[in-house]
Amino acid sequence: MVPADVVPADVVPADVVPADVTRQAAGAVQYSADTTCSPYTSDERIRSMTIKHVGVVGAGLMGSGIAQTIAQAGYDVVLMEVNQELLDRGLARVHGAWRMLAGKGKVTEAQAKEYGGRIRGTLNLQEFGDRDLVIEAIIENMDEKKKLFSALDAILPAEALLVSNTSSLPIIEMASVTGRQERVAGLHFFNPAPVMKLVEIVRTIATSEATITTLRDFSTSLGKTPIIAKDTAGFVVNFLLIPYMLAAVRMYENGLATKEDIDTGMKLGCGYPMGPFELLDYVGLDTTLYAAEAIYKEYPDPAYAPPTLLRRMVQAGRYGKKNGKGFYVGVEQ
Ligand code: CAA
Repeated sequence: MVPADVVPADVVPADVVPADVTRQAAGAVQYSADTTCSPYTSDERIRSMTIKHVGVVGAGLMGSGIAQTIAQAGYDVVLMEVNQELLDRGLARVHGAWRMLAGKGKVTEAQAKEYGGRIRGTLNLQEFGDRDLVIEAIIENMDEKKKLFSALDAILPAEALLVSNTSSLPIIEMASVTGRQERVAGLHFFNPAPVMKLVEIVRTIATSEATITTLRDFSTSLGKTPIIAKDTAGFVVNFLLIPYMLAAVRMYENGLATKEDIDTGMKLGCGYPMGPFELLDYVGLDTTLYAAEAIYKEYPDPAYAPPTLLRRMVQAGRYGKKNGKGFYVGVEQ
């Protein structure tokens, strides 16, 4: 094997570039003098920017959880929705979580109040004019996302980053409608966002190293562990998780075991916190179906083909915990 230090700089994959980065404090990044492994000639191109003001579009389960996490970490957050009812519901979820944490003694009343002072809701996208970073967490519909990215591109400061929390749609397609492709990436949180420690940073073919560095530092400052994924359907986690959940539905559909036994099997046999059917209800059957369809479109492998039962459940309006109807919730046992 050829040692890394004799590989010509221009053939080293971009993924290994930040290896020589020394982090001193959140937002402050220094590079060692040794740039042997870096294809970049100037530190300027990989220097991170400072994030202070964040916008989150979409106050659903994910958007509100992301906004909560970011406000708790000390950032100023504006949370946007399309109507007052959805906005109120999202903000109530966030404030309810802080009350729950205060009730458990995990944060003080003063802290909960301080967090609350850092988040405000809006119905007006124009209020994002001073944001350093905007996270899109709206419905998994490419046309809607492209409309939003195009509108945000016109409003945000030139240097601001624009990221999507999509679980499976191509980020580059959203970037393509903006004039800032190098500052567009995926930033994929996991449900429940305030609790799950992982964030996937999705690098498109156009995302700059500076954007990746900034998002790594930002994720770390939230108490999350970032991993880097390429802009391929399912990224890292859903590429493995979705076929696992689909296989469980197929097992149940084919009468190989009850859903309860499949769940017990995976919880007690493998130590998973939830079985696949509990997780399907939790994540959302519709969300799982959309993710499976997106992955199957890119990789037409039967492992990613949504089973008929999952389609029928979604067609019946059974989305899981989010609307109280799923494999377990709202169903006669
Ligand atoms: N803010 C802060 N903390 C919160 C919180 C919130 N909004 N909600 C819950 N918590 C904390 C609770 O205070 C609790 O802390 P303690 O244990 O210290 O008291 C902890 O989180 C666990 O909460 P609960 O006690 O209510 O529930 P639990 O112990 O049954 O755990 C769970 C719930 C964390 C969801 C656990 O069952 C789990 O990890 N399940 C698997 C979830 C999973 O796999 N998520 C990924 C889904 S895939 C995805 O999201 C990607 C995609 O694109 C589809």
